[in-house]
Amino acid sequence: MTAHRALELFWHPVCTRAELERSSPHPLAVTLLGRDLAVADVGGVVMAAIDRCPHRSTRLSVGFVEPGSIRCAYHGWRYSVAGECVEIPATPGGPLPVGPCLQTFDVEVAYDLVWVRIDGSADTAIPANPAWDDASLHVVAGEPYTWPTSALRRVENFVDLAHFAWVHDGTLGRRDEPVPPIPAVTRVDGELRFHYDPPAMEPEQEALFGHSRYRMPMPCTVDIEFHAESGSRRHLWMTASPAAEGVCRTFWFVARDDDLEGDDAQYLAFQQVILDQDEPVVCNQDPREIPLDPGSELSVRTDRVSIEYRRWLRELADAADHGAEELQRVLNGSAVSSPV
Ligand code: FES
Ligand SMILES: [Fe+2]
Repeated sequence: MTAHRALELFWHPVCTRAELERSSPHPLAVTLLGRDLAVADVGGVVMAAIDRCPHRSTRLSVGFVEPGSIRCAYHGWRYSVAGECVEIPATPGGPLPVGPCLQTFDVEVAYDLVWVRIDGSADTAIPANPAWDDASLHVVAGEPYTWPTSALRRVENFVDLAHFAWVHDGTLGRRDEPVPPIPAVTRVDGELRFHYDPPAMEPEQEALFGHSRYRMPMPCTVDIEFHAESGSRRHLWMTASPAAEGVCRTFWFVARDDDLEGDDAQYLAFQQVILDQDEPVVCNQDPREIPLDPGSELSVRTDRVSIEYRRWLRELADAADHGAEELQRVLNGSAVSSPV
């Protein structure tokens, strides 16, 4: 069982708005769920299509962005946002293919990221990023990074409470306190939620640390709200985009309501320390794809969040295999609480 089909029904970011702008005059080549896509801002409207011209299969990402369309570099065929061929320079006035001939995808811009949904047959939403619209918070975008692991392994690591003591000894946890709390994991409004209290320690000023409220608005996105003892409030938001099998690209933001005049770079640098600690363990999980069959990896009771996460993934994967409507039903389903 894999969650690939379920992930096709959710929105994922494929690039930043700035990356799209830098790519001009060419469309940007990106990969999502194993598909090569060409993405372009064609004049206030973003277009996402398969990165292959239907004529002789040249990549459209080496073509050109034009108002309302993408033009192929090879013979100049031009395609509209809807994927219709609207011009064939070699046959002016001649017949054009009837209807869309280039596969296009749902695309939106949110949080300065370009989001694509491979299959729009379920009514899924771009995952919430509460800090983005919170005027009391200063939001800083991190540099996206690509890791040789699946999006779901990446995300599971993000919500793994037992690794803080080992991987982040001295930064987020303590090896001399290796027993994490076992939170109640709930599902509310289609989200997976839990709370976490870190061990007593003196975190660095730039650390995102304190009573932590985790929300997963969809299986690849984690939003953590931290309440520090000082009273300050911070957020860490990430989404791991499933680029291809065993490869993901993570987009992330940090936000704070304190030290508003402080240097943003030090907050990003602290997160980079954490990422450098995580990378060797997460990028050495074999297989890279998360196994969803219960019993395929050993678990103990302190793996509660991971166990509930995988249970959620299994339900979504199973539902998606039965159709978009069934996935919709699971997403709209009533609240579920894990046993405590
Ligand atoms: S291959 Fe694209 S126009 Fe011919
Ligand atoms: Fe970690």
